[in-house]
Amino acid sequence: MKKITSKELRNSYLNFFKERGHAIIQSASLIPENDPSVLFTTAGMHPLIPYLLGEKHPQGNRLVNVQKCIRTGDIDEVGDASHCTFFEMLGNWSLGDYFKEQSIKWSYEFLTHPKYLNIDKDRLVVSVFEGDEDCPRDEESASVWRQCGINNEKIFYLPKKNNWWIAGNIGPCGPDTEIFFDTGKHPCGENCNPACDCGKYLEIWNNVFMQFNKQADGTLVPLTQQNVDTGMGLERTVCVLNGINSVYETDVFLPIIKKLEELSNLSYASSAEVTKAMRIIADHIRSAVFLLGDRIGITPSNADQGYVLRRLIRRAVRYANFLGLNNGDLIKIASLFIEIYKDVYSELTDNKDKIIGELNREEERFLKTLVSGEKEFLRLVGKLEGNLIEGAAAFRLYDTYGFPLEMTKELAQERGLIVDEEGFYEKYAQHQKLSQDTSGQRFKGGLADSGQATTFLHTATHLLQASLRKVLGEEVAQKGSNINPERLRFDFSFHRPMTKEEIKKTQELVNQAINESIPIVCEEMSLEKARKKGAIGLFADKYGQDVKVYSIGDTSIEMCGGPHATNTSQLGRFVITKEQSSSSGVRRIRAELIREE
Ligand code: ALA
Repeated sequence: MKKITSKELRNSYLNFFKERGHAIIQSASLIPENDPSVLFTTAGMHPLIPYLLGEKHPQGNRLVNVQKCIRTGDIDEVGDASHCTFFEMLGNWSLGDYFKEQSIKWSYEFLTHPKYLNIDKDRLVVSVFEGDEDCPRDEESASVWRQCGINNEKIFYLPKKNNWWIAGNIGPCGPDTEIFFDTGKHPCGENCNPACDCGKYLEIWNNVFMQFNKQADGTLVPLTQQNVDTGMGLERTVCVLNGINSVYETDVFLPIIKKLEELSNLSYASSAEVTKAMRIIADHIRSAVFLLGDRIGITPSNADQGYVLRRLIRRAVRYANFLGLNNGDLIKIASLFIEIYKDVYSELTDNKDKIIGELNREEERFLKTLVSGEKEFLRLVGKLEGNLIEGAAAFRLYDTYGFPLEMTKELAQERGLIVDEEGFYEKYAQHQKLSQDTSGQRFKGGLADSGQATTFLHTATHLLQASLRKVLGEEVAQKGSNINPERLRFDFSFHRPMTKEEIKKTQELVNQAINESIPIVCEEMSLEKARKKGAIGLFADKYGQDVKVYSIGDTSIEMCGGPHATNTSQLGRFVITKEQSSSSGVRRIRAELIREE
């Protein structure tokens, strides 16, 4: 087996497939561009969906890449030896070109050949799909594995739960064959197999044979072409190859851990708490660096991707405090990540100022209230009779001290307490309803004055938000809205004044939509469906049963209580009259509709 660094593995993988006719493609953005069903790119396939479905890829039908991915489903597990929110996935792709046999043979060659990873074939174990009513048992893959020299007892047939891959609920999917490294540990029992998590087997590669397109009603429609989508986790494979137990001890993290030791004067291994804190900081700051430095940059906010980013940064700040780090130390960690990845992801260097600036701003915002928030938390814990923290208390921590609910939950968990989450969301919804000047009313109820002028200004607000997002980027999220028959007022997250050109461009885009006479369509649907459709709106209102979604062509899709104009042509001419600061990180626009008939 070859000791190898992450850089060597990236290069070796890309070259191997390049030599076999694959075009090297760039990693796509972490923020999906054409797939509103997911917040982040969680696998290499997201950006390639149109090509898996049959569209021609400009670089051919054999591709290879290293894709940046973010998966936040296991965010609470970060701190153990293996979970990370950001990771890189090595992948090779056949778009209707080679299929099972070639894919397996190349994987085998790359893993075992002395020129490449040189893994002893006896340490490899594989699983294949056992078959069901949708798709037959995958004897073809098993037979190719046998031809490669993998013995029958190392080929496991497993059900859909293990050997079928799909991203989410709908889209391209199919059976897969997974390749594991056998650590040599004793089996955990008679039924020990690669799917159990006893630690005997470590997954290193997943080859998915994408043959179906799963519909919303669950039916599997065969694709017009047979594709291969493979995924190998970079850090995890580096661990296996180097006999390391934790991703935090690989070459991408080691300099970071060393730096954290130096800054905190604590040794990584000094206690379980210190190890965990250092891992969380390392992981979360790396994800924040990649999110802020992405080509489609986002910034911390209270909605969607921005909220996840805020959570990551604030959690890192809290653990930095625990280690006794100084203000500004996290920036040093971020800068080191930019340095470590500079040859592979030049966007980080290009966006360095933004990354550092936003991290600083968010850290400062949070630090201002962190100490008093923790005091408040301890005060309420002191008064607690049972072990339940009420929703209203959790909401106060959120609203007054900027504690994401998840952080309060974590603080509670550390003390064996639980948080009434339902109560939190109830309070949240109530608060939105009461507040005349927030976007909460977009979910429930309509406008205070539904006269025609107000209604048209309301529609203009949707167009304004869509245009701001086009001009300033998707980090723009609504922070408040107030409309009277004379004017609209719109507050949104953005950290600097807009330039004259940006204001002009925004105004033009709104007027363009007005001139295009676009009909406005209202549909009612579940919040989940609305999200899938790409509707923007507040993140946490779980209490609106069905939400109304107003679409203005493809220009704007928003959850909202209405009412609205029926066609953009009714609005008249749109003019921005003022752009000013509202509060820290929030800008305010005033605008009017001028009727010229
Ligand atoms: N898309 C497959 C995965 O993420 C390769 O595991």
